Amino acid sequence: MANRITINADLAAGTINRNIYGHFSEHLGRCIYEGIWVGEDSPIPNTNGIRNDVVAALKNIKIPVLRWPGGCFADEYHWKDGIGPRESRKRMINTHWGGVVENNHFGTHEFLMLCEMLDCEPYISGNVGSGTVQEMSEWVEYMTFDGVSPMAELRKENGREKPWNVKYFGVGNENWGCGGNMRPEYYADEYRRYQTYVRNYGENKIHKIACGPNVDDYRWMDVLMREAHRMMDSISLHYYTIPGEWADKGAATGFSEDEWFMTMKKALWMDELIKRHSTIMDKYDPNKRVGLIVDEWGTWFDVEPGTNPGFLYQQNTIRDALVAGVTLNIFHDHCDRVQMANIAQVINVLQSVILTEGEKMVLTPTYHVFDMYKVHQDATLLTTSIDSQEYAHNDQKIPQVSVSASKDAEGRIHVSLCNLDNQSGTDVEIDLRGLAGAGLKVTGTELTASVKDAHNTFEQPSVVAPTAYQAFSVEGTVVKAKLSPMSVTVLELIAE
Ligand code: AHR
Repeated sequence: MANRITINADLAAGTINRNIYGHFSEHLGRCIYEGIWVGEDSPIPNTNGIRNDVVAALKNIKIPVLRWPGGCFADEYHWKDGIGPRESRKRMINTHWGGVVENNHFGTHEFLMLCEMLDCEPYISGNVGSGTVQEMSEWVEYMTFDGVSPMAELRKENGREKPWNVKYFGVGNENWGCGGNMRPEYYADEYRRYQTYVRNYGENKIHKIACGPNVDDYRWMDVLMREAHRMMDSISLHYYTIPGEWADKGAATGFSEDEWFMTMKKALWMDELIKRHSTIMDKYDPNKRVGLIVDEWGTWFDVEPGTNPGFLYQQNTIRDALVAGVTLNIFHDHCDRVQMANIAQVINVLQSVILTEGEKMVLTPTYHVFDMYKVHQDATLLTTSIDSQEYAHNDQKIPQVSVSASKDAEGRIHVSLCNLDNQSGTDVEIDLRGLAGAGLKVTGTELTASVKDAHNTFEQPSVVAPTAYQAFSVEGTVVKAKLSPMSVTVLELIAE
């Protein structure tokens, strides 16, 4: 029996904000140092200290926005340590992540230069936990003020005459935890105070992001919305997919059938989390002015054996690709509320799209999903329904297929399909309604593998790579397709 999908080509359900395809970079492990910044004197090909291979790979997936400098690092980061001549910048301990030396060579100028190279929006996380209101306020002045002021002068002394455009600014990170262990009532007051001094200078309009809840902390969401929704543009949500428990998360490779299933089940939980948080937001903001920004999401496994536990380095398999595909489909579904999402983290940390080792770079299965799905960026979400078969494991069941469809500015329809079952292929029948033409031209790309922990290594970088997809037939406006086990497929449908 086929999974039945109906797509209404003439029924728009919103716009998929390209920022849903955002990324996150923290001073953690080898994300910034080695992953992005190698320094101008490095033998690794670079432009002004930033790796050329990484920039090219991220531009290819049209990275729309990049969050920095943390994470937990953000609430211990004092931005003035990271400006001025690099040789004289402070060397300090990265207390949160591995106790290693942070030489501050990658600071505000370097990050904003990176965003210019990537042609993406910067998203800066400010320090509430251990920083002052003045410090936060001056950072914004330093970056965005085009006039006479102490911070604008300092910026010019450091070689940047004109200010940058900085739109997204987070007022703290995880202030319920590493960002100060605050109660929601206390943070709500702090948020109100700090955000007052996050100023708009000239044409630069800041989109203020309040620290939102951890996973299913609905009380945090309720208190923050009640106390401060008028003073924020968005509120964040953090949720990581962990197959096991916090203390024993499970390995990134060599995992069991059980762990595969739990990973899929827990990834799907994102849908319920967004629904329930949105319902609370609706109470205070029925017109959905305030965005929900899922600025940390992705898989979190045990670190690779032999690596620094504080560096959070993990391999990335076809299982991660499924988590990415399913989660992005969920974000699309909630594009009325979810305005941005940032997978954690872009390079060498948690669910990365890129891994590096010295001068070598490898693109992960997750990278390929972002590449295949980029067609959805800024496209119109189409009203879609699915009658999915079940994927059963022991006594538990989840839907086997996840789907999302959108129409781009040229009228092309893209359908992303995930088969969550790693053992059984499945048939889908897509009925496309409301089309201008009577027929369809269909092409497709598939990402799949023969074993459930298939991954790319520096020695074998293309074990999991997209291939042209042909396992479909078309009858009028109905597409019948065979999805491989554990696969992510993107179809392009053009009416003719
Ligand atoms: O992404 C790793 C860490 O996870 C971040 O620093 C923190 O915000 C979250 O707990």
